[in-house]
Amino acid sequence: MSVGIVGGGVIGLACAWELLRRGERVTVHDPDPGRSAGLVAAGMLAPTAEANYGEEALQALMLESMRRWPAFAAELEAASGMRIGYRTEGSLLVALTDDDHAEVLRLVDYYRRAGTPIEPLTGRQLRELEPMLSPRVRGGAFAPGDHQVDPRLVLRALRSLPIRFESTSIDDLSAVRDDVIIVANGVGAARLTGLPVRPVKGQLLRLRGAESLVRHVIRGVALGRHVYLVPRADGELVVGATEEERGADTTVTAGGVLDLLRPAADLLPGVVELALAETLAGLRPGTPDNAPVLGPLPLPSGVDHAVVVPGKPGHSGSVVAPQLHDQRGERGRRVLVATGHYRNGVLLAPVTAQVIADLATTGATNVDVEAFATARFT
Ligand code: GLY
Repeated sequence: MSVGIVGGGVIGLACAWELLRRGERVTVHDPDPGRSAGLVAAGMLAPTAEANYGEEALQALMLESMRRWPAFAAELEAASGMRIGYRTEGSLLVALTDDDHAEVLRLVDYYRRAGTPIEPLTGRQLRELEPMLSPRVRGGAFAPGDHQVDPRLVLRALRSLPIRFESTSIDDLSAVRDDVIIVANGVGAARLTGLPVRPVKGQLLRLRGAESLVRHVIRGVALGRHVYLVPRADGELVVGATEEERGADTTVTAGGVLDLLRPAADLLPGVVELALAETLAGLRPGTPDNAPVLGPLPLPSGVDHAVVVPGKPGHSGSVVAPQLHDQRGERGRRVLVATGHYRNGVLLAPVTAQVIADLATTGATNVDVEAFATARFT
C-alpha cells in the first residue's frame, strides 16, 4: 500500500511518521513542508485550559492525546536526535479583577465536574508561584495536567525524519496517485474536500528578555480580555493569540498587538521591558463545532471512490466527481481527512496520527472518534 499525505504541517508529518513506523510507503506532498499553522502556534498542550463548555467529546480526545504526549515527545527526540522543548510545569489560570475571577471560578467548577485536576489559588498563592505577577491579580487556579512544547522544534524534528517529500502543490486530489490519500493541509482542506473548514486568524507575539519572567504557562483574563503567556527555556515569552474571522488575511495589525499586550501587561507588568522580537499571524483550521474532522471522506451512494471539484481560493470545493477511479482503472482509492484541529493541532497530533494510521492500515480504530466523523458536515 502507498500513502500520499497532502500537507506537511504538524498533523501531516505526525501521520507520516506513524505510518512510516508501521512500515508503510509514505509521501508527503507540500511545496514547503513545515511552513504551516504550527509555526505560529504557542504549543500549549492544554486539555484543561483549552476546554470549553459543551465540548465534552473534544475534551475527551484532547485528554487521550495528552496521555500519548510524553511517549510521543520522548520517541520523537530519540528518532530525530533533537530536543522539542517539552515541559510539564502545568499552567496557571490568572484573573485580574473580581469579574475576571468569577469567570475563572466558573471554569474551575466545570473542570472539576469533568474530573479534570484543577486547584483554585488565591492571588497571594499565585504570586508565591510566580512573583512577577501583578499585585492586583485577584486569584486563579493551577492546572497540573497542562504541558507545553515548542512547535517550531517539533516541526524541525519531524522534518528531519526519513519521510519522502514531493514539493508538488496539490489543487486536485486526482493528482495524488497513492492507494490511500490523507488530506491534512489545514485550511486548504476545504478546497480539496468541500468540508466546512475555515481560517480563524491568530496573531501572536514573541518577546525576549535576559531571563524568563515566569515558569508556568499563564492563561490570563484581565478586564475581560483573554491572553496566554508561554515561557520558553531560552528566555522567549510567547504572547497569544487573537481570534479573528477575516478569511485568509495574515496581516499583523497594531490593534492585534495592542489586544495582546494590554492584558499581558496588566497581569505581568514586566512584559513592557522585554524586546518585541517577532510579530506574526497564522490561520487555524476551524470547523462549525470547533472539533477536528477525522476519518474517511464520505461519498454519495453508488460512488466508491472520491474526486473533489476544487473551489475558488477561500471557498469550499464540492465533492465528488468520479475520475479518480476511472483514470486509474482500478478500484477506488480511499481518502481520509485529518484537519479542523483549530486551537489544538499540536496537542491533538499524537492521537490524530494513531487514528489516521489505524484507519489507513486496517480501516478501523479503537479510539472513539465517532463525534469527529466527516459525515456530520455532509
Ligand atoms: N491553542 C491556542 C491558540 O490557538 O491560540
